[in-house]
Amino acid sequence: MLTSTISTAFVVFSALASTVSAMPWGPPKPPRNQPGLAKLQSVMPLGTLQPPTGLELKFVGLGLGTQNYTCDNETAPISTTGALATLYDLGSRLNNDPMAQWKLASISGLSLSLSTRKWMMDAYLGAQGYNKVLGGHYFTAKVPTFSLYKIQASPFPLVFGKKNGTMDAPPTACPGLKGEGAVPWLQLIDNGGSQGGVNTVYRLETAGGKAPATCKGMKSTFEVPYAAQYWVFGPK
Ligand SMILES: *[C@@H]1O[C@H](CO)[C@@H](O)[C@H](O)[C@H]1NC(C)=O
Ligand SMILES: *[C@@H]1O[C@H](CO)[C@@H](O)[C@H](O)[C@H]1NC(C)=O
Ligand SMILES: *[C@@H]1O[C@H](CO)[C@@H](O)[C@H](O)[C@H]1NC(C)=O
Repeated sequence: MLTSTISTAFVVFSALASTVSAMPWGPPKPPRNQPGLAKLQSVMPLGTLQPPTGLELKFVGLGLGTQNYTCDNETAPISTTGALATLYDLGSRLNNDPMAQWKLASISGLSLSLSTRKWMMDAYLGAQGYNKVLGGHYFTAKVPTFSLYKIQASPFPLVFGKKNGTMDAPPTACPGLKGEGAVPWLQLIDNGGSQGGVNTVYRLETAGGKAPATCKGMKSTFEVPYAAQYWVFGPK
């Protein structure tokens, strides 16, 4: 594991070394509210989920964090208690990247694998220009919440979501740091109270995060590291 993580990092850094001098090192500037991401929307990996209708892609965030679960005892069913993730801005950089479609499929798994060493993950995100934080993903009284509080807009974009569609992650999805499996892809629509010009979120390109099949041998609360891309839409 360690060896493969280090060699992955080495490959990443080798590939980047030639372009590093042109990269925006240093503290990232806060992201600004952005116009629609039409080019990126045209290569959205939607799987079998319902496409958005009459909506425009506003943000794409790379979520890195944990899915949280609880087990009452060894024979109880596993419960989901939520998730906590930082959302990094992928959209503004990838919208003008001719290789976006190819990169999308690898970003979640690669960043999850590098997340075991924070400095490696930060170096990768920084070198690629994905290090601007949009905000966070968490649960508000069991409601999945996407708060893009770093966006300079009043009110800032915020989605309170509810699940309206789901599909298993494709077999090619990165199964996570310990092979747990990738959480499903989702379509989340407004659960009431969303603001700032956004109302729909797709969770796509998931890596890791899945709970084990049973509570056997699990602690009463535990977290499974994961990465996912959150595609955030709003009215045109
Ligand atoms: C285990 O937890 C489940 C769900 O909370 C409960 O229904 C069951 O009675 C518990 N079993 C034991 C052996 O404590
Ligand atoms: C999920 O786990 C993280 C990491 O331990 C913790 O900080 C967070 O509060 C947990 N959130 C929920 C909703 O359980
Ligand atoms: C919610 O899902 C249903 C069933 O797939 C679909 O018909 C409907 O269009 C979806 N709603 C939105 C807002 O996409």
